[in-house]
Amino acid sequence: MSDELKKQAALAAMSEVKSGMRIGLGTGSTAKHFVDYLGAEVAKGFECLCVPTSIATMKQAQSLNIPLTTLDEIDRLDVTVDGADEIDDRMQLIKGGGGALLREKIVAAASDKMVVIADTSKLVEVLGKFALPIEVNKFGLGATQNAVSAIMQDFKAEGGLVLRQQNDAPFVTDGGHFILDASFGRISDAKALSDELLNVPGVVQHGLFLGLCAKAYLADANGVKELG
Ligand code: A5P
Repeated sequence: MSDELKKQAALAAMSEVKSGMRIGLGTGSTAKHFVDYLGAEVAKGFECLCVPTSIATMKQAQSLNIPLTTLDEIDRLDVTVDGADEIDDRMQLIKGGGGALLREKIVAAASDKMVVIADTSKLVEVLGKFALPIEVNKFGLGATQNAVSAIMQDFKAEGGLVLRQQNDAPFVTDGGHFILDASFGRISDAKALSDELLNVPGVVQHGLFLGLCAKAYLADANGVKELG
């Protein structure tokens, strides 16, 4: 999506934050714009306390003097604003294209409201065209891969399973885990798939965000439309 549309969605989501709020900061190229807009407000006196969902977002927020805290210091947030790789009309999401899904899900679940910002190309009828990121423990990788492959067969996955790479080595998340990208094609029962994946001991978390997103700002050439 064009950077301009990402900016429009991010700007629209600024309406969700009020001075004094505790805010979760998402990760990715769209969330980055939101953090920039928030930083500009902080420079003008806007008060907030924020929890970043990745080391990258933490560094960006620090550079903008956005006050940060952790979920050890506070247990609830008013709102989290984050991007998504796919969103359906039931507000179910696939996230984790940037590899931050674990922290993103922990922060979203600790928030009274999760707001997604994206362009309308992320809106899909059925989740699954975007390969589902699955964060896995490094220990026992082969066994975990086999267990996930078996689940993919059960769920009639149309594609394969790959260990995400970066610079000719396995990609490592902020939490020190690997990511498996699972190409399902169509995920017809996201809740059942979520339950199955979480039953695999080596699976730390997956990128299906179900029942977490309350609102979405989706930008296209005609403007920003709201979902939820
Ligand atoms: C990060 O792990 C992801 O969940 C991102 O939020 C998601 O991939 C959207 O990223 P973009 O805004 O860069 O498309």
